[in-house]
Amino acid sequence: MLRILLFLALLASFSCERKEVPRMSPAEIKELVGVKGCPYCHDMRRQLLGPSFLDISKRYTERDRDKLVKSILEGSRGKWGDNSMPPQKLTEEEARLIVEWILNLKHELD
Ligand code: HEC
Repeated sequence: MLRILLFLALLASFSCERKEVPRMSPAEIKELVGVKGCPYCHDMRRQLLGPSFLDISKRYTERDRDKLVKSILEGSRGKWGDNSMPPQKLTEEEARLIVEWILNLKHELD
């Protein structure tokens, strides 16, 4: 009986683990950014049509996470200049991963 319970507990912990949000490495997220076409308007350091990812990183903190996810999913205008960003086609989960990655750039690139 005890053995069965132990087995079930093990099984439960295993399935919980598998439900965890997928983690992606910074390199994988950068690749996702490329696949989604962001580099067409954003460079890491240079201003293109949109601000550089490094400038975005420096302007915001962790507390602005939700705001930035919303900007990406719904589009943004008037915050950086005359150009506006149309809504981007990606899932909320993808947008969250990318925002974390952007916010972290100020610690890595500077
Ligand atoms: C067609 C050009 C274009 C594309 C493609 C684009 N952006 Fe932007 N992005 C802009 C512009 C322009 C701004 C500045 C908008 C403003 O002034 O509010 C901006 C702003 C942003 C901001 C800052 C928003 C804020 O609230 O300050 C983030 C974050 C961002 N883009 C991420 C992304 C990501 C991630 C992608 C790819 C999924 C992407 N962008 C694709 C043009 C683009």
